[in-house]
Amino acid sequence: MNVVLIGSGGREHALARKISKSKSLSKLYILPGNPGTGALGENVNVDVSNFDETYNFCFENEISFVIIGPEQPLVDGLGDFLIEKGLKVFGPTKAAAQIEGDKSFSKNLMKNYGIPTASFEVFDKEDYENALTYVKTAKYPLVVKASGLAAGKGVLICEDQNSAVSAIKECFKDGAFGAAGDKVVVEEFMYGFEASLFAITDGTDFISLPIAQDHKRIGDGDTGKNTGGMGAYAPAPLVDSKLQEEVEKIIIQPTLDAMKSENAPFVGCLYCGLMITSEGPKVVEFNCRFGDPETQVVLPLLEGDFLQLLYSAAAGKIDKNSVKYSGGAAICVVASSKGYPGSYKKGLKITGIEDAESEEIVVYHAGTKKEGNDIVTSGGRVLGVTAVSKENDLKACKTKAYEGIDKIKFDGIYFRKDISDKAFQNLD
Ligand code: AMP
Ligand code: GLY
Repeated sequence: MNVVLIGSGGREHALARKISKSKSLSKLYILPGNPGTGALGENVNVDVSNFDETYNFCFENEISFVIIGPEQPLVDGLGDFLIEKGLKVFGPTKAAAQIEGDKSFSKNLMKNYGIPTASFEVFDKEDYENALTYVKTAKYPLVVKASGLAAGKGVLICEDQNSAVSAIKECFKDGAFGAAGDKVVVEEFMYGFEASLFAITDGTDFISLPIAQDHKRIGDGDTGKNTGGMGAYAPAPLVDSKLQEEVEKIIIQPTLDAMKSENAPFVGCLYCGLMITSEGPKVVEFNCRFGDPETQVVLPLLEGDFLQLLYSAAAGKIDKNSVKYSGGAAICVVASSKGYPGSYKKGLKITGIEDAESEEIVVYHAGTKKEGNDIVTSGGRVLGVTAVSKENDLKACKTKAYEGIDKIKFDGIYFRKDISDKAFQNLD
């Protein structure tokens, strides 16, 4: 089949790499893609926010399957539009994508269906005074979240009343997150360790992939500002198969059942951000798509036909045997631009990518573009250097990933030095 993959980040490079290995693939187009995906299929500069233009491209190129990578087009309803035109789509409808696009929706869903998560209250912009009264009597730390999509930046962890009052003000009065902050979720702070689980689902049935751990803060030792993710590893030894089964039983299956009951069956990749607390696993957040950079470490650990897995889910009957865990491990270290997650320079020449790559190391492109014969930076998160070990040897993987990234040079390159150390603390 001819396949369209939508997106342009490291996640899409990892998806394209896996899909390109499928026997059922004829031609892969990536809209708009990046220099990494360009080596695996054809990048085409279609404006995916224009639904008609996207559909026309699919029609003219005899596309039978569309995979939507990022959350924005899903939340905007691109999936619904293409499904209505008769295409098979991997990715939820607009109604189901609310699970990420509107945190108040997902929190209420969890509350109503008994899915474990932090206790919370929701406030509208008009409830400004009530929100202030609430945070004056709440327990600290407290978490204030913009309810809408805020590119991972809308979560404010407040140590005391003053910072909670500022956070509410930032959302309601200063418009720091635009319309995404017109509704706010104020929730209890959860203690524990975090893990990310991807459930691939046809809406009823699902399989969960190896568990990953992300590194969201910019600095070593989880310090500094939150980012889109500075690195990841999988599988996370902290979540053994018994715990994974518990998560499937008390979180994933009930969530899929709840979405069906709400007339919003979820088809695609349900990303579950977990907090493993002393009371058991709880949901930090749901996303309606694959995580980035978790995808870059989870997908290399799958054997089988990944395209068949996604297609069967989109077609309504997931083929649970199409992939299996290889038994290996992977680590991805993100190379970012100096200044990220704040402002940073673009257009800086990158060298050493080919040098860094080997049979065990893949360099995923995220914020790069071609300029003549050069690859230059075009984003905050620039590359993701991923090392894979067939033997589930995380330590060897870490050494390899850092050997790889040391070969890559661009002005102001920055990366964390401690990706995956959390796993070793537990293993030693
Ligand atoms: P989110 O975008 O909701 O995943 O939040 C971003 C990050 O903020 C998470 O990965 C957690 O590290 C942290 N966080 C969010 N909600 C909570 C919570 N209720 N308790 C503790 N940490 C949280
Ligand atoms: N790595 C976090 C996310 O994809 O939202």
